[in-house]
Amino acid sequence: MYRVKKAVIPAAGLGTRFLPATKAMPKEMLPIVDKPTIQYIIEEAIESGIEDIIIITGKGKRAIEDHFDSVPELEANLIAKNKSDLLHLVEETTNINIHFIRQSKPKGLGDAILQAKAFIGNEPFVVMLGDDIVQAEIPCTRQLIEQYERTNCSIIGVQQVRNQDTQRYGIVDPSNSISEDLHKVKSFVEKPALGTAPSNLAILGRYLLKPDIFTYLETQIVGSGGEVQLTDAISRLNEFDEVLAYEFRGRRYDVGEKLGFIQTTLEFALKRDDLGDDVARMMKELLAERASRTSSV
Ligand code: UTP
Repeated sequence: MYRVKKAVIPAAGLGTRFLPATKAMPKEMLPIVDKPTIQYIIEEAIESGIEDIIIITGKGKRAIEDHFDSVPELEANLIAKNKSDLLHLVEETTNINIHFIRQSKPKGLGDAILQAKAFIGNEPFVVMLGDDIVQAEIPCTRQLIEQYERTNCSIIGVQQVRNQDTQRYGIVDPSNSISEDLHKVKSFVEKPALGTAPSNLAILGRYLLKPDIFTYLETQIVGSGGEVQLTDAISRLNEFDEVLAYEFRGRRYDVGEKLGFIQTTLEFALKRDDLGDDVARMMKELLAERASRTSSV
């Protein structure tokens, strides 16, 4: 069995839910407190034992490449000013083995992953989406790798979502369960219309895929939203080589849409030693102000 050591992070989407912020800045560079979302994903990859990372980029995504490059003038300035803590933060992102490849047009997540075919070769690999940050005792991607090592199957990370949210995700139609948190799957459905979802098990941005997926991606026709969907290709792969859905452990933060992004920012800030108390006080004051404004209307 191959060891899983490569990760693909697609970041070539248009980020329309965050316009106008994403007109000139990649969505993946939006910070949660002071760290770009994509850096949380890369930290999870490294903590999971991933050695090679490829980021799929597109137009207007130069800032991602720059973020993981060295910045000699900034480093020299921080050394001169003896700011070793900040120097450490800046250097942290330059010592990682990251490769970049471009998706020429944002034709969908499936098409983005297909661009990594030559880089992946004949090995299993993980796909990690920046829309989902997962905080877990065992990193989410590590959990998927462990399930793969036990079963030798492609593994899709899922969690239960609310009924009204199923239309936003790829949803699993489960068949038999192998254990409480590991399920065989009849099919995978991308963004089912409200009320038609076969379950509440949603694909949440973490996949471990065997390289056979590329055979299906190469012939995948456009699906939901006029895009080439990874979910559709996974559903076809599952007909020939079993794909399992694994309910990973951990708290998952949806940073791909505004409310989730705000919630994540507040939660992460509240947990910080240097900011938590001040943010809590500030939130109390803001809420009190809001309450007095609404009661006086
Ligand atoms: P999303 O649909 O969440 O991202 O795609 P988006 O298109 O950037 O954002 P919105 O919906 O317009 O606000 C899921 C992931 O797939 C990548 C995105 O960058 C994101 O990480 N993606 C999507 C690509 O790399 N290429 C595509 O053609 C589409």
